[in-house]
Amino acid sequence: MCGIVGYLGPKQAYPILIDGLKRLEYRGYDSAGIATLEDKATLRIEKKQGKVANLEAHVGNEKPKGTVGIGHTRWATHGPPNDINAHPHAGGQGHLAVIHNGIIENYEALRELLTHRGHNLVSETDTEVLAHFIEEVQLTTGLDLPDAVRTALKEVVGAYALVVLDQRHPDRLIAARKSSPLVIGVGQDNEFFVGSDATPIVAYTKNVIYLEDEEVATMHRSGELTIRTIGDAVVTPEIHAIELEMASLEKAGYDHFMLKEIFEQPKSIRDSIRGRIRIHAGESTVSGVDDHWEVWSQAKRILILGCGTSWHAGLVAEYLFEGLARIPVEVEYASEFRYRNPIVRSDDVVVAISQSGETADTLAAIRLAKDQGAHVFGVCNVVGSSIARETHAGAYTHAGPEIGVASTKAFTAQVAVLTVLAMHVGHRLGTLEDQQFMRLMTGLDNIPGLVEKVLDNAGIIEHIAKKFAGSDNALYLGRGYQFPVALEGALKLKEISYIHAEGYPAAEMKHGPIALIDEAMPVVFIATQDEVYEKVVSNIQEVKARGGQILAIVTEGDSKVRSLADHVLEIPKVDDALAPLLTVIPMQILSYHIALMRGCDVDQPRNLAKSVTVE
Ligand code: F6R
Repeated sequence: MCGIVGYLGPKQAYPILIDGLKRLEYRGYDSAGIATLEDKATLRIEKKQGKVANLEAHVGNEKPKGTVGIGHTRWATHGPPNDINAHPHAGGQGHLAVIHNGIIENYEALRELLTHRGHNLVSETDTEVLAHFIEEVQLTTGLDLPDAVRTALKEVVGAYALVVLDQRHPDRLIAARKSSPLVIGVGQDNEFFVGSDATPIVAYTKNVIYLEDEEVATMHRSGELTIRTIGDAVVTPEIHAIELEMASLEKAGYDHFMLKEIFEQPKSIRDSIRGRIRIHAGESTVSGVDDHWEVWSQAKRILILGCGTSWHAGLVAEYLFEGLARIPVEVEYASEFRYRNPIVRSDDVVVAISQSGETADTLAAIRLAKDQGAHVFGVCNVVGSSIARETHAGAYTHAGPEIGVASTKAFTAQVAVLTVLAMHVGHRLGTLEDQQFMRLMTGLDNIPGLVEKVLDNAGIIEHIAKKFAGSDNALYLGRGYQFPVALEGALKLKEISYIHAEGYPAAEMKHGPIALIDEAMPVVFIATQDEVYEKVVSNIQEVKARGGQILAIVTEGDSKVRSLADHVLEIPKVDDALAPLLTVIPMQILSYHIALMRGCDVDQPRNLAKSVTVE
């Protein structure tokens, strides 16, 4: 949420900032802006509502010069998306500029104080308050900029990742974070890069420092970097080498990142299970579990936390853990859990699921669970992310960078890792017998090849999409393992095509949603041949009797549902526990094509942003 980029070094900053903003645009696209120091002395701020392309058009040929600068792409929190509320924000005297990701909770009190002291704030943002407040501290204390920033931040309540540029100090860039991610890239030739994540940095350097909470970094043109906490403790920077490849950040010939990511799923699932299941040895390995087996073997309950699509993956995991490891599971929206005064015990294992590893609600819920003594296991995609670092142990999904705002390959990678996790724990506990364990391992190993087979049918799905593209509503129904997939299918459709869609357990339909069924209502059924197949067939009949348009996802060779549904999509027969990895794929493709047909921005749907780092 909100993208931050910064540069200090010998090169021209503007092209680096613009390139970085384009790479970070998936974090927010309400407005974009940059600030540079021209002639190392004059602060030039350019900002524009809308996407980075608007900013570029606005700047035209008058490209800002200077070898230090900051850039921001906004996901609006305080104040609507417009030019004035766009970042960077200047202090009242116009010599410092600030970009910020997060929410300053006490901004109203600070605003009042500043207004009292004669500051004239022009925007509605909390960030402008921050810029003026840092300036006010500088003015009243005479402190040097890094100290003024630290002193100001002591008074600030809330979350921030920020970068400050001051025209009186053209050789320095100040960056600070609390609860919002910030990465510093250390390049050659005494140059520094700053990013909300590594994507704007990786083209220039693979050496990064992850700033921790309440740390303030001062980067100097001489190559010197100092980090102090806001409490003034000196921190020794720890440099990490990132493995991110530039190619993984490009569209690779696809029209959209979402489509590329859908088609990457055979690979991302394979990468996520590789080394964790070893069929020939008849073993699985999850070192994050094995290293803490004492805790897992005594777990009385598994508490799963996540948001959005990651929460849906958690619901699949509930069926998996209860079915295979026989441990009671509760799945919680991280955002609700943290405000509910929840009961967490020391014999609970908490599994936190997050693609970005930065979701503010999930992070806060993890901290709460840790404070109450639970062991927390993370399932994250972004290496080095806050959640990956703050959990006691974990298993990465190896989906590679997910740039499309709608999550696709991250979901299947999460489900794949969670499947291995549940199988592994079940097998070690003895609740999953050798034979079934081997069958599931072999089945899981075959999944990437079967996903390829489902993807081969993308053309048929595009054809079916035409029938539904004009709808205003849609209902997605599934039972058992397929209920979370129904929720995920509905979420995919609504977030990128803006069609109102509901996911429901199929059997719940008759308790209310059935009232919605008429000739104009498309109903997507997941009716694979599993334990609840016959029940779902009855639900299909109920919809058919009321004239609903039925699209059914069925097992290859199914004839019963085919005779009832208007359209069917086949998936290969697999074990019930593995089927979500296949049934979700047609849903993703369907949403993609419907959104395209409706003229929607597939990769950057309105109002959304990847990585929700605000509450
Ligand atoms: C939906 C989607 C979101 C995220 C949610 C959690 O397509 O992408 O619902 O799943 O914001 O994000 P992470 O997994 O990064 O914690």
